[in-house]
Amino acid sequence: MPRDLYVIGNWKMYKTAREAAGYVEELEPKVQGCQAKIYLAVPYTSIASAARSAKNTPITIGAQNMNDAREGAFTGEIAALMLKEAGAEFVLLGHSERRKIFGESSEFVHKKTVRALQEGLQPIVCVGEDLEERESGRTEEVLKHQLEKSLSGIPAEDALKIILAYEPVWAIGTGKTATPKIAQEAHAFCRSCLADLFGKKVAGQISILYGGSVKPESAGPLAAQKDIDGVLVGGASLDPHTFAEIALNCEKPT
Ligand code: PGA
Repeated sequence: MPRDLYVIGNWKMYKTAREAAGYVEELEPKVQGCQAKIYLAVPYTSIASAARSAKNTPITIGAQNMNDAREGAFTGEIAALMLKEAGAEFVLLGHSERRKIFGESSEFVHKKTVRALQEGLQPIVCVGEDLEERESGRTEEVLKHQLEKSLSGIPAEDALKIILAYEPVWAIGTGKTATPKIAQEAHAFCRSCLADLFGKKVAGQISILYGGSVKPESAGPLAAQKDIDGVLVGGASLDPHTFAEIALNCEKPT
């Protein structure tokens, strides 16, 4: 069975609620007939307006983070249930900016993943090595560690609901995209780790996206790789024209 293909925009801390609604209205006609599923991870305050504009369109709205608790005294945090009620259908977890800037561990990502699954939000779990780790030949060790700590113990039927994103930290926001060959090697390795965790059949059904300085010209060659099932786009997703171009360039032979 072919895996689902995704093009996900990660707006980070950009776009107000009003800007989000206008963006979705502009994007929608441009991505009609696109092979990939179109997801947008927007700031919390933009979820409701983006979801309203995306209603009855092929665009799905989600969040960029959440807390692992159901509810509680956690000032400034947000719960899965709140995101769902606002209109989010998925959530990014363990993005490298959360790991590096806010000190989130893979253990925390694991707890969040379990909670998201429990509350019916689709988790998009991000992993990736930094430059020093790649240059010292530790890429596989780092990916394996992050994947094991973030995902072990999750039942295989739940693992099927997860999307994985391989995002080398050295490629994020730097303009340095991994070559399709480097990305494919890392994706194949991530899939072998998923096979160790959940069995080969399940691992073969989990979509793995590439993220890191994706542009319209790099999206097609990346998505054409055997183990790359779409892209997670930061900077280039902020403009609906550019993001639509990326989406249209992502295709698999049917
Ligand atoms: P970038 O970000 O496309 O701006 O490199 C990707 C991401 O952080 O998800």
